[in-house]
Amino acid sequence: MIKQAIVPLAGLGTRLLPLTSVLPKELLPINGIPAIEYIIDECVDAGIKEIIFIISKKKNLIKKYFYHDKMYKDFLSKNKDPRVYNHYKRNLINRKMIKFVYQNKPLGTGDAVLKTLKLIKDKYFLMLLPDDLIFKKNCSKEMIKVHNKYNSSVMASMSVNKNSVSRWGIYKLTKKLSKLNFLISDVVEKPNKKKAPSNKAVIGRYILPKSIFSKLIALKPGKNGEINITDAIRLLISQNEKFIAHNFLGKYLDCGTMTGYIKSSFEISKL
Ligand code: UTP
Repeated sequence: MIKQAIVPLAGLGTRLLPLTSVLPKELLPINGIPAIEYIIDECVDAGIKEIIFIISKKKNLIKKYFYHDKMYKDFLSKNKDPRVYNHYKRNLINRKMIKFVYQNKPLGTGDAVLKTLKLIKDKYFLMLLPDDLIFKKNCSKEMIKVHNKYNSSVMASMSVNKNSVSRWGIYKLTKKLSKLNFLISDVVEKPNKKKAPSNKAVIGRYILPKSIFSKLIALKPGKNGEINITDAIRLLISQNEKFIAHNFLGKYLDCGTMTGYIKSSFEISKL
């Protein structure tokens, strides 16, 4: 069973400047709700019991968001606004399942994952990248079903425009296992169009094996001088760890770019 999820939140969010010059992007509202709340909802609905947020000192506001008790108590003692009361109650429940670890230098997603090494208990765990929101169908829940069926690692997958492959991790697929699930034989971080093995991209939902930590410890910086999670996954695949690409059915919103972020509120309001 997958019971733990990790969420890397320690990146700089430069593509959303100036919005992120002071505020962490994960607290920016999407259709009136801080982005991080959508990730928590997805985890809870997927049966996750513990969520580990990887933050940095610069993004301590994320922790504060869950622990601002005095403000809520002072307000609620004078005003019984049910909307605020319900949110505070929800916060109190959610924070019981949230742990925080720190990555103070943004050395890459792989380095962020390494910070959770001592906290991961089971053989597999879920990872969600919060820029990628998926609606209508709970992608994490579906991936956990795939993991349970095939006893393997799983990554969310989506076809992208061939001209945009250099923005993504791109898969090489070998075998169709079912309508939505494919065996992966390689994955390349942000390849150029000529070297891309396909137009199937990794989207920010992963079920990873605990054995990835030993690969991450030994990994040298790759693309952009960062420790990339994709490079560790590539190593695992080359050593016969079974990875499945799951073509998710939900609606994908890329909230990490300015255009995507602006569109996302409108798209969610239509759902
Ligand atoms: P990205 O590289 O896509 O986003 O990281 P970013 O660094 O936050 O933003 P830009 O590119 O400067 O606009 C994907 C996810 O991984 C986290 C980010 O917070 C984001 O949720 N991340 C990235 C880390 O936690 N640590 C890192 O060193 C890098």
